[in-house]
Amino acid sequence: MNSLKPFLILIALAFLMPWLVLIVYPSARLKAYVTEVAYAKEDDTKDAVFPTGRSYLVAGARVYAANGCAYCHTQMIRPTYAGADRWRSGWSGREEDGLARETLPFDFLGERYAYLGVQRNGPDLSNVGHRIKEAKWHYDHLYNPRKVVAGSIMPAFTNLFTTRPVVGQVSELAVDVVDRGGSQYEVVPSGEAKALVGYLLGMKKDQKVPKSIVAK
Ligand code: HEC
Repeated sequence: MNSLKPFLILIALAFLMPWLVLIVYPSARLKAYVTEVAYAKEDDTKDAVFPTGRSYLVAGARVYAANGCAYCHTQMIRPTYAGADRWRSGWSGREEDGLARETLPFDFLGERYAYLGVQRNGPDLSNVGHRIKEAKWHYDHLYNPRKVVAGSIMPAFTNLFTTRPVVGQVSELAVDVVDRGGSQYEVVPSGEAKALVGYLLGMKKDQKVPKSIVAK
């Protein structure tokens, strides 16, 4: 019976410690962080670019969510202690400008959901806007990934395209032209595809961070 008390204390500690370290501490840090960003002094922020004006990309983010891109892609450059993301070329932003960094909660300010993702069957997309700058590349890739990247296992998102008869010249954005009963039809991106590609082209999570939250 003598050893029951220390045993119970140890059990309690075994649950208490992870709770403190994994839940209480991070949530207190995040709360302080959010308050700091909200009240950051002007001095602190004048050379920082807040990733706010992104609301026009909301439509694209919706398409991203609806098509399950987050099942295979992350938007999360992990701190080095949690992975080797910073060493993957182009993943963490503009190395040449010294802006490459890990992802911060700051990057999702003003966004309703953060599509961090759960696993990486494809590359992290945090800074894909720096890597791929052509809308046409995205359209071709979304319509038929294998046409652009040999052996790609990314599914084709043909649902984001519509087929219409060719009137005059074939559209610049057409990803395919098909012959049906003697007349030509072109496959062009739908409004959803355009919103999604706008979102991808603007995907840059390496903005300068206000000084007050860098040194943490
Ligand atoms: C089943 C997993 C899967 C899903 C779902 C998926 N992807 Fe991919 N994606 C991949 C793989 C694998 C690659 C790497 C091969 C390639 O480039 O095609 C990739 C590559 C990419 C690239 C090129 C990235 C780079 O740096 O070269 C982009 C952009 C992209 N995907 C966007 C999307 C978007 C947008 C969606 C949702 C409409 C999506 N993906 C859904 C697996 C997936």
